[in-house]
Amino acid sequence: MALDGRHALVTGSSRGIGRGIALALAESGVKVAIHYFQNEAAAKETLAQVRKRGSDGVLIQADVTRPEQITEMFRKLKREFGTLDIFVSNARPEAPTFYAPPLDITLEQWDTAFDSQAKAFLVAVWEALPLMSDGGRIFAITYAEGSRTGGLQPWVGMGSAKAALESLVRYIAVAVAKRGITVNAISPGWTEDSVLNTLPDQVQQLIRNWHERGWTPMGRLGTPTDVGDVVTLFCSEKARWITGQVIYADGGASLMNPEVPPEIQIE
Ligand SMILES: NC(=O)c1ccc[n+]([C@@H]2O[C@H](COP(=O)([O-])OP(=O)(O)OC[C@H]3O[C@@H](n4cnc5c(N)ncnc54)[C@H](OP(=O)(O)O)[C@@H]3O)[C@@H](O)[C@H]2O)c1
Repeated sequence: MALDGRHALVTGSSRGIGRGIALALAESGVKVAIHYFQNEAAAKETLAQVRKRGSDGVLIQADVTRPEQITEMFRKLKREFGTLDIFVSNARPEAPTFYAPPLDITLEQWDTAFDSQAKAFLVAVWEALPLMSDGGRIFAITYAEGSRTGGLQPWVGMGSAKAALESLVRYIAVAVAKRGITVNAISPGWTEDSVLNTLPDQVQQLIRNWHERGWTPMGRLGTPTDVGDVVTLFCSEKARWITGQVIYADGGASLMNPEVPPEIQIE
């Protein structure tokens, strides 16, 4: 298989998009460290699915808002794998820990958002680089619409944190470029089997209808597999010349003009 024998760490791969990334990498022969925070049973299920795909992996627990736990996560990774070829920073805390509008958000919520994104990525990259050989791959999973817009008010903490993350991706990309290590942010659109499914049914249906009606030109929401396949694609040797970019993996949703109803844009 294309990436046979490589080692990856995917944070937040117990479920959602992270699981999709872990499974797509496993399909290509990558051994995956499946990281989780509180949901060990879900992480075990991801590992079982990795094994069904003919690969293998290990489980690692850590709170990514705590730098010392990130350091410990990489210590364990070194003991288990010895080396690392692919690092994916995907974990994101549960919405209630950061979801509040700009005039109400507490500093604790703000710090949770920032600690889990730019700061967690910075610390993880420091730890990942000594384990990584030249030509490695580093990814940050972002939500670029949240960094660019201001309409979804309670997203202010995470939107600002993702903006900082995207900026950091560019700086780290330059810092490691001489080693042929690429660093990119992947920005999924709204995705099934993820945080979406924890929202009230009515909200989920509104979001699905909006995208199926045309906001996503491909006429559906994304899946964790869609995002996992994009990450796997970027792990290819053929993607070696792309670094420091924010890659939209969203079926074209980011191409729509927010000032014009989708029905008028798509005939
Ligand atoms: N879902 C979407 O539509 C969408 C769209 C664009 C971008 N994204 C981005 O994609 C990534 C994954 O989103 P998702 O919706 O798939 O996530 P999700 O289903 O809500 O899963 C969150 C993951 O993060 C872990 N986690 C939670 N708090 C943590 C903490 N304090 N420390 C370490 N890990 C923690 C969880 O572990 P446990 O299972 O152990 O709790 C779980 O594995 C996020 O970065 C998100 O911003 C998502």
